[in-house]
Order: sequence, then C-alpha cells, then structure tokens
Amino acid sequence: MADLRRALELVRTVPDFPEPGVLFRDLNPLFADAEAVRTVVDAMAAGLPADVDVIAAVEARGFLLGGPVAVALGCGLVPIRKPGKLPAVADRVDYSLEYGTASLELPAGVLEPGQRVAVVDDVLATGGTVAAVCQLVERAGARVSAVSVVLELTALGGRGLLPGRDIQVLQTI
Ligand code: PRP
Ligand code: HPA
Repeated sequence: MADLRRALELVRTVPDFPEPGVLFRDLNPLFADAEAVRTVVDAMAAGLPADVDVIAAVEARGFLLGGPVAVALGCGLVPIRKPGKLPAVADRVDYSLEYGTASLELPAGVLEPGQRVAVVDDVLATGGTVAAVCQLVERAGARVSAVSVVLELTALGGRGLLPGRDIQVLQTI
C-alpha cells in the first residue's frame, strides 16, 4: 500500500497541456521508475477478474501498462490502435476527447467471439476512449469483463459513458 502510494505520487501535473486550460496528469515519471511500474502493474492485475482471456490495450500509453498486465495475468493482448497503423482492420470507432476527436481501430482476426476482455489504459478522463474500446470489443462479439486504469479524472465524468461497467481505478483525482 505504501509502495502504491509512492508510485502514484510520481504522477506530475502539467498546466496548459496540450491546450490552455487543461491540467495534464503526466505519468512519465512513474513509467521511468522500475519499482513504481511493477507496483502499479501488480495492483492492476490483482484488481482484474482471474478468468480474463485477453487484455485490450489502448495506443499509446495503454500499451505501456497493458503488456505487463497481460504477462502478469498470463493472458494475451489485443492492441487497439490509432488509424493508419494496422495492416488489416476489423472495425473502427470515431469518438470525442477532452481536447479534440479521435478514432480507434481493432485489428482483424485476433479477437474471438465470447472472449472475456479487460480494457487497460493509463487515464480515464471523458471516458470516450474506453467507451470506444468497449464498443469495438462488443461489436466483435467478445465481452468486456472489466476496465482498469491508473487514474480517473472524476471532474470529466468518464463513468457516465460506461454505465454498468466494472471499472478498477488505482487513484481518483
Ligand atoms: C489519453 C489517455 C487515454 C485517453 C483518456 O490518450 O492515454 O487513452 O486520452 O481520455 P478520455 O477518457 O477523455 O478518452 P491520448 O488519446 O492522448 O493518446 P496517447 O496515449 O497516444 O498519448
Ligand atoms: N493526463 C493524461 N492523459 C489524459 C489526460 C490527462 O490529464 N486527459 C486526457 N487524457
């Protein structure tokens, strides 16, 4: 617990990024600290259901956590990617962010109907990103068992886009 508190204290707040008025929570100092990363990954893995088949990790910062969480749980990983990166696309969702719009794509032929999926990302802000991933997963016939993030920025109301979801959060701000 003390280790997790120390790890989360490494998150720094940067004003006016990427736009004036946005208070950006920067996890890079946490990612750079070996002990902190291990603590955070272990806590995320421990909070997820044991029967998860696959982690859906969101480009880019979700990859930094989703890979280690998948290894910790002994399950596979499906990368959810920004447009133009995948050689074969199964599906695409366009959505709104705190600072703009974005799209995410599911690779073709990697997610099987009925699989239990845990969505992993670093930050839950407006919820648009995680909601888009849930849509991609469910349109593929798989199931979202849980969502796991390090930080939830409660003022942005992300849970409103994720009704009924099991959302595991290490810290709310
Ligand atoms: C950030 C963050 C989450 C998302 C959260 O990613 O890593 O994926 O925004 O915001 P939301 O809850 O409002 O959707 P970003 O799109 O900035 O991409 P990056 O990981 O490539 O930096
Ligand atoms: N920090 C990191 N990622 C984010 C943020 C933030 O404050 N807001 C939306 N995505």
